[in-house]
Amino acid sequence: MSRISIVTGANQGLGYALAEGLAHRASADDVVYLTGRDAGRVDEAAAKIDHPAIRTHVLDVRDGDAVAGFAAQLAERHGGVDAVFSNAAARLSPGAANSEQVVPFVETNNLGTTHILRSFLPVLRPGGALLIVASSFGTLRQLPPHLHSRFEGRSLEEVDATMLAWRDAVVNGTAGAEGWPDWINIPSKVGQVAAVRAVAAQRREADAASGTLIAAVCPGLIDTDASRPWFADMSGAASPAEGAKPLLDLALGARRPEYYGELVQFGRVLRWL
Ligand SMILES: NC(=O)c1ccc[n+]([C@@H]2O[C@H](COP(=O)([O-])OP(=O)(O)OC[C@H]3O[C@@H](n4cnc5c(N)ncnc54)[C@H](OP(=O)(O)O)[C@@H]3O)[C@@H](O)[C@H]2O)c1
Repeated sequence: MSRISIVTGANQGLGYALAEGLAHRASADDVVYLTGRDAGRVDEAAAKIDHPAIRTHVLDVRDGDAVAGFAAQLAERHGGVDAVFSNAAARLSPGAANSEQVVPFVETNNLGTTHILRSFLPVLRPGGALLIVASSFGTLRQLPPHLHSRFEGRSLEEVDATMLAWRDAVVNGTAGAEGWPDWINIPSKVGQVAAVRAVAAQRREADAASGTLIAAVCPGLIDTDASRPWFADMSGAASPAEGAKPLLDLALGARRPEYYGELVQFGRVLRWL
């Protein structure tokens, strides 16, 4: 059976490297969907990879109906999907106000993540993998204890509601008084990992039986246009291709039960609490 893979936000950065890596690892009948929100940028990226496995699709992850429609399309066309990399992310600019950045950030990075989980888990074939690209900031240890219960043991709907309430608090200027960290990347990444934990809690037994993997992943510091403005010295950063490799190995390699539903970085589980 041919392997069907999807990468969101794949026209540049880590997503591009994931799509390219999938193409290089593809067998003759495998298909890799390189997706992104802009048709021109998606086509340009696909042309650069120039591999017969690559197909393109314009997908804005903020649009839940479009995500659901694409998943249904792939289920009909291929009978399901085997590897999903939920990688699309809005950027943060140093110096810009949190209240001005948080709305697209939550829509893309958090609601985009839960759109992918809701639509693609039902079409993920047994033995497949769905990885949410998060970061090492996505652990409860990054938040004060009184906020933990908003993420711990919650459903996907409750995680979405928490992220929307936090977004509103940032817009209204009350997030600091509620104890949220000032850097909005942190609650957002915790929300992504909590979303993975929510679905994993429900599917754990069935997925263990079929060898299916759901996990959040941290690629480590990667030299991209998104990370570069934040660091004066990027000499320690990996290239996107280097950052993509462990993620590809995780999705396509042998299953290890300890990774299921967890945040994984360089083959190691980062403790949630
Ligand atoms: N870089 C690092 O050091 C680092 C470290 C830890 C975790 N990560 C995570 O790795 C992932 C990729 O990061 P990156 O550095 O490669 O970022 P990036 O260079 O900014 O790439 C992000 C990609 O997401 C796309 N995107 C943005 N909004 C979208 C939307 N609404 N729908 C679909 N696609 C959308 C962008 O498309 P456009 O070109 O159209 O904007 C771009 O292709 C992120 O989840 C990030 O948090 C990165």
